[in-house]
Amino acid sequence: MSSKPDILMIDPMPKPITERLEQHFTLHPYESVAKLGDLAAKIRGVTTGGGSGLPREILDALPNLGVISVNGVGTDKIDLEECKRRKIRVATTQGVLTDDVADMALALLLDTLRGVVASDRFVRAGRWGKDPVPNSYAVKGKKLGIAGFGHIGKAIASRAAAFGMEIAYFNSRKQDDSAYPFYPEFKSLVEWADVLVLAVSGGPRSYHMVNKEIIEALGPKGFLINVARGSVVDEDELLSALKEGRLGGAGLDVFAHEPSVPEGFYGLDNVVLQAHRASATIETRNAMGNLVIDNLIAFFDGKPLLTPVV
Ligand code: 8YV
Repeated sequence: MSSKPDILMIDPMPKPITERLEQHFTLHPYESVAKLGDLAAKIRGVTTGGGSGLPREILDALPNLGVISVNGVGTDKIDLEECKRRKIRVATTQGVLTDDVADMALALLLDTLRGVVASDRFVRAGRWGKDPVPNSYAVKGKKLGIAGFGHIGKAIASRAAAFGMEIAYFNSRKQDDSAYPFYPEFKSLVEWADVLVLAVSGGPRSYHMVNKEIIEALGPKGFLINVARGSVVDEDELLSALKEGRLGGAGLDVFAHEPSVPEGFYGLDNVVLQAHRASATIETRNAMGNLVIDNLIAFFDGKPLLTPVV
């Protein structure tokens, strides 16, 4: 690299990552397309998160963009076909965040069934000794259906197996490296399962895959855990099913219109809410950030990307 290439930063990154980025690149935090002005033509690279992606209006405003380095694994908010057409390279941080996301799925699963956070509220409200201590649901022996059996889905399965859960999965293809039962039809898996964990990719194929019919198939004793994308679930249906007791409970790390969360969820004890933070550990966010940088450096040095998607 001769001079420092100009990079548009869509989402903020941890301080050490921003400092390392600044050693190699001239960083421009994104504000709006209108404010890009003359800078637009200088931008050669973009960093962004999986949840934010790169909206088409920004992509279209950057005529000399060469590379998008995603701080995450999801590319559902990036028009990959358009990137291919314009010969823009795209890299993700695949492989780095698998364990943390699987851990969060298990944390939500355990909490949703055992009521840890709800019980914390019970104690803090001074209700212990006044009201009956609520019983929760056992994890061992429950049937866990995993939708999306890639690296994250498989890491969730190995953790859940240690808790004595029975496991099966739905995926676009049977996975020959796994002995767990494969359901080629999503609804059949849901009808079998007590707990459904979503680990599918976002995008049109999985949009509202969990709709009213699926929520009903899961039923009043069923639980839904979502560490995938908010777009996978019909959020209005989920909220009314939780309110009316037509679904047992839910653990949600992701939402349809982040960072906005329907306030109807706030008052419900049968839902556990997170701020899209399954991969947000210090260790993993640093490893992700460094991989984002290494992919950019490789691109501007004319070398192959480390973890390319396009
Ligand atoms: C991150 C994600 O929270 O990997 C993804 O696609 O959505 C998450 O791991 C996000 O990318 C961080 O910005």
